[in-house]
Amino acid sequence: MGRIILTGDRPTGRLHLGHYVGSLRRRVELQNEVDYDKMFVFIADVQALTDNADNPEKVRQNIIEVALDYLSVGLDPSKVTIFIQSMIPELTELTVYYMNLVTVSRLQRNPTVKTEIAMRNFETSIPVGFFTYPISQAADITFCKATTVPVGEDQEPMLEQCREIVRRFNSIYGEVLVEPQIMLPSNQACLRLPGIDGNAKMSKSLGNCIYLSDTAKEVEQKVKSAYTDPEHLRVEDPGHVEGNVVFTYLDAFSSDDDFAEFWPEYKNLDELKDHYRRGGLGDMKCKKFLMKVLNKQLEPIRVRRHEFEQDIPEVYNILKKGSEAAREVAAQTLHEVREAMKINYFDDPDLIREQAEKYRNNS
Ligand code: TRP
Repeated sequence: MGRIILTGDRPTGRLHLGHYVGSLRRRVELQNEVDYDKMFVFIADVQALTDNADNPEKVRQNIIEVALDYLSVGLDPSKVTIFIQSMIPELTELTVYYMNLVTVSRLQRNPTVKTEIAMRNFETSIPVGFFTYPISQAADITFCKATTVPVGEDQEPMLEQCREIVRRFNSIYGEVLVEPQIMLPSNQACLRLPGIDGNAKMSKSLGNCIYLSDTAKEVEQKVKSAYTDPEHLRVEDPGHVEGNVVFTYLDAFSSDDDFAEFWPEYKNLDELKDHYRRGGLGDMKCKKFLMKVLNKQLEPIRVRRHEFEQDIPEVYNILKKGSEAAREVAAQTLHEVREAMKINYFDDPDLIREQAEKYRNNS
């Protein structure tokens, strides 16, 4: 069986560098380099609504932001089906059937849900839809029989939950669904990119993001404010690169070519780190280099974004076509699911004959 790749994002804000290194960059490589049968990337608006029920406008606005981010990083609609979750009602029906295969206590143990509940101060007022979104996410993944899900490590519990649902479904109803595998980012620094302030996570709510759509100026200002080594007070002091945002970002973004182009005094990042550790290297020099490295990568993304911004109706059209294509796939899987679950009362001549027989004999 071939490889089917699927992943998605909640439309709750513009996408940032954390998304880029954690997932977007890899998606473009996958699209261009890897052998796969199909690749889906979708905007998880239904999931976004599970904790934004009172703010539909925010979700609606961010659908186009995320779509623009996708297209501007180079996702190509001729290779990847880009769609909107809510436009595939089959997903909802799958979710309802999967709900019977998961216990409340299993959901309560899901570490991602636990963390998110704490982050949102939901505690005793958790919306049911939010609580059950891992089940809906299993529907997102299984509707196309995805084999491979490129996401960040924070999604591991979701994938595990999904695999459990698949196994349970298949063992009760027969082999219909496919167990997906997570595909984690390969570079360690990419597993989770810290915020510019040194917080462990880049996140919109913490206000520590560099967005893909930030201007070169904005990127420079943010890098200037980056958290480095609080003990590195004077240039001569030895510095720490661990926990130093500038070096973590260089780990994630810089290449030897960047040194050749912008800072030929050093051959590579290891040489730069050695110097920083020894002392005698100022933060500002490192930040200037990081600005150049980031802006070099972001510039083509900005240019493409600008082009798509000039033709918004076309962006919606891409989403509409992708949603239609995804829906056909979902309808096929739902058909198989219903057959397996014996929810095919009007389409099963054997059933009708059997029942007719049974009642005829009764009379
Ligand atoms: N939960 C994911 C996130 O917060 C988004 C998402 C929804 C997703 N459905 C998915 C990711 C299916 C991968 C596969 O980023």
